[in-house]
Amino acid sequence: MKKVIIPILTSLIFASCNSKTAENTSENNSEINDENAVLTPNTKEIMDTHTLSNYKEVATKHLDLDLTVDFETKSIKGIVTHTIKNKTNAKQIVFDSKYLVVDKVVLNGSEAATFKLGEFDELLGTSLTVDIKENTETVAIHYKTTQKTEALDWLVAEQTANKTSPFMYTQGQSIFTRSWIPLQDSPELRITYTANVTVPKGMIAVMSANNPVELNESSTYYFEMKQSIPCYLLALAVGELEFKALDERTGVYAEPSMLTSCAEELVDMGKMVNVAEELYGPYQWERFDVIVLPPSFPFGGMENPRLTFATPTIIAGDKSLVSLIAHELAHSWSGNLVTNATWNDFWLNEGFTVYFERRIMEALEGKDYADMLAILGFQDLERTLNELTPEFQKLRLNLKGFHPDDAMTDVAYEKGYFFLRLIEETVGRDKFDAFLKQYFESHKFQTITTDQFLAYLNKELLIPNNKSINISEWVDEPGLPANCPTIEAKRFIAVEKQLEQYKKDKDLAVLETKDWSTHEWLHFLRDLDSTVSAQEMEKMDKRFMLTNSGNSEIAAIWFEKSIYAGYHGIDEQLEAFLKRVGRRKFLKPLYEALASTPEGLETGRVIFKKYKKNYHYVSINTIEGILGLK
Ligand code: BES
Ligand code: ZN
Repeated sequence: MKKVIIPILTSLIFASCNSKTAENTSENNSEINDENAVLTPNTKEIMDTHTLSNYKEVATKHLDLDLTVDFETKSIKGIVTHTIKNKTNAKQIVFDSKYLVVDKVVLNGSEAATFKLGEFDELLGTSLTVDIKENTETVAIHYKTTQKTEALDWLVAEQTANKTSPFMYTQGQSIFTRSWIPLQDSPELRITYTANVTVPKGMIAVMSANNPVELNESSTYYFEMKQSIPCYLLALAVGELEFKALDERTGVYAEPSMLTSCAEELVDMGKMVNVAEELYGPYQWERFDVIVLPPSFPFGGMENPRLTFATPTIIAGDKSLVSLIAHELAHSWSGNLVTNATWNDFWLNEGFTVYFERRIMEALEGKDYADMLAILGFQDLERTLNELTPEFQKLRLNLKGFHPDDAMTDVAYEKGYFFLRLIEETVGRDKFDAFLKQYFESHKFQTITTDQFLAYLNKELLIPNNKSINISEWVDEPGLPANCPTIEAKRFIAVEKQLEQYKKDKDLAVLETKDWSTHEWLHFLRDLDSTVSAQEMEKMDKRFMLTNSGNSEIAAIWFEKSIYAGYHGIDEQLEAFLKRVGRRKFLKPLYEALASTPEGLETGRVIFKKYKKNYHYVSINTIEGILGLK
């Protein structure tokens, strides 16, 4: 396995070969053909190993949901009506389900159907097989969710910002949608949908569809998603919400007490959409709104179409964490418009999205800013590669038997990003941009496998430009190839110089932090190592007030480094953070740091026990692993 080793104190990413080398090899045509031979389109049938459904034989085209959200029993109850297309004259349609109770199934609006639930599988759930006839056009399933339903997070009022009303939201990606709606849960299948959702008085429901902008007295909300989407993008949130428009096509939903600060932070969203369109073609989803969720949301963001779900931890007060919104917006092209056919191809969703995100940020904030993001991303990748077994270090995965979420690591995001950046550097930005624009246009509302993408890349970009890249090494080998692009950011180099000086003299006066942005702080803090003692951390804290930072990214890395250094001045704030924040990206390294000593592990377990109720299922799952509670 080849691996780039980076000295801790440099923002340079070493490369033993660069685009020049690629040009050299391009003179040798036979070599190109050999390389390209690996890339002949694979005509093998696409196999999604994470669905029990028979969507290739008979598939849902459209869903009509009629649901009631009940906060008393913490369940959703209702009917999902599937309009189907029976391509092979199948006698049965098979759906995915998990932890659902099915009451009855009705065909064509009135005929009771025979159905059977299969054996329960921990990973995939339970198949629901319904007998159908030649003339069956609709299959209506009457069902309810249970306490075990993984896709739903039910919050009591105390866990919200306003503390006056409970809240619930769904998380579908990767294979959780089947736990709140019985359906054919494969990203390869696209559907349109409508929904009638009834909620308690005083609450608003919003979905990945057209959304209400105010309270509806009847408490039943009607939704329509006219563009076809993979069903992991079906999403619902219900709570005491208000909406604020930012411009004609963007706006924010948040709890009332958060609305103003969220709207101020996200005020530039409209610009982001314009910039994204200039790069890679028209925005296809009409509106781009964001809902800022309560802090237990386990992710940074989730690209539910028309309505991105976001963590409140990006509300820093200085817009310094809004690249996350650029990321979710970019998914409106990579992921939502052109979708990974199976979870093995997840890098096609995320690698492209990180690339696109950084192009948006470059257009808005300049190259140095985008390169700082890329360097931080590279550091994440290095850390992740050190933790992963070789199989999970590949872009193209084989996840049969694994939960897709377990493999959704920085490899897909950052190795994917660097691979695309290498292609950009090899052919030149103009050509790569034209290629990407055409890629989104020609594959819109379709799914794609890694094989199909590589064949397309080869045919449309590399062969016409007489270029060759070690694609199979990037895609199917572990680690990071030696020709990973080199990145340098001036502002980081300045930070590194100061930190080096500080490590020598241990004199805080050498640090000129007045003009540091969040990213410079992150770079500095990430590079603190075991040579910095608890006493020095204390001095640094007194000077820069890091323990009380209102910036979640800065606070999280500061807490992590302090735990390793044995600095206890953070303890109170650390506990407050672990109580409030449910974002897995922050919880994971913090609980890991605690678990690195026997006393810390004990503290971690005590804290986790107290605040577990504030975390989402996916975060709980990760932390239980770290704390040895599984
Ligand atoms: N689609 C992902 C979130 C996701 C991935 C949910 C896999 C479930 C399984 C989303 O677009 C994402 O990547 N979010 C990141 C933020 C981003 C800026 C890297 C996150 O949540 O940290
Ligand atoms: Zn993403």
